[in-house]
Amino acid sequence: MGEAKIIDGEAIAAGLRRRIGEEAARLKARHDLTPGLAVVLVGDNPASRVYVRNKARRAEEAGMTSHDHHLPADVTEEALLSLVRGLGDDARVNGILVQLPLPPHIRAEAVHDAVDPAKDVDGFHGINAGRLVTGAADAMVPCTPLGCLMLLKHHLGELAGLKALVIGRSNIVGKPVAALLLAEHCTVTVAHSRTRDLAGECRRADIVVAAVGRARMVEGGWIKPGATVIDVGINHIEGGSGETRLAGDVDFAAAVKVAGAITPVPGGVGPMTIACLLRNTLVAACRQNGIEPPEI
Ligand code: GUN
Repeated sequence: MGEAKIIDGEAIAAGLRRRIGEEAARLKARHDLTPGLAVVLVGDNPASRVYVRNKARRAEEAGMTSHDHHLPADVTEEALLSLVRGLGDDARVNGILVQLPLPPHIRAEAVHDAVDPAKDVDGFHGINAGRLVTGAADAMVPCTPLGCLMLLKHHLGELAGLKALVIGRSNIVGKPVAALLLAEHCTVTVAHSRTRDLAGECRRADIVVAAVGRARMVEGGWIKPGATVIDVGINHIEGGSGETRLAGDVDFAAAVKVAGAITPVPGGVGPMTIACLLRNTLVAACRQNGIEPPEI
């Protein structure tokens, strides 16, 4: 058997960002509207700082305005909630994102539910989570799950009838990915730390989405020949001679010999997450101004 096709998330995300930039320019020309994205960072988590900077940069490259808020790690929950509610009332802001993880004294759920659902470009508000599960057309869909779905459709086209295994049941990735695949008429299994025969579940799946946060946990021998593998993991591992490097949740070197297609880490799902954030911000800006959002 030959090697799997590598799904180039970097290139697919670049195409998506270009189309979003064109649509943002059209919004400006026709409606004098510039979408605004507010990004809130609490504390100094180095990875979060990088993500937040990239989100702001990509927003501006796409012709949007970015409103950055950096709060100290010891900010009170009430002060953060007050900022988030204020952004909900700010007409220049169409999308609000509070970067995770948050310090332990702040309840993430309270923060998510303080975001105006119409501006909830992360899709974490209970209302949007409910809309996603019930199949409502106006759900704000979380960015990483949406990126996974776009990569799958890009490679496979029609997903109906395929058996999908989602490994991981987080609110940010596993659960919304499962809801999206179910809406695409896949037969969906969600595996987690208590799943008895993970290898067996994997071997039956036409689609595997791995989102567990454990480096190379999914072995090549678990993959059904020809399956499509989406690796959401971003794990920092020892790369030899002291430096660290990135590894996914899937043993890429082994899986690439068995799968039909697979996403690399880095360069797979990661770039899609930010592109989908821009897409959600554009859609939110349109809806808030009574404009039909473009199909992106
Ligand atoms: N931290 C890791 N992933 C995400 C995400 O998708 N959104 C936010 N806000 N924080 C994150």
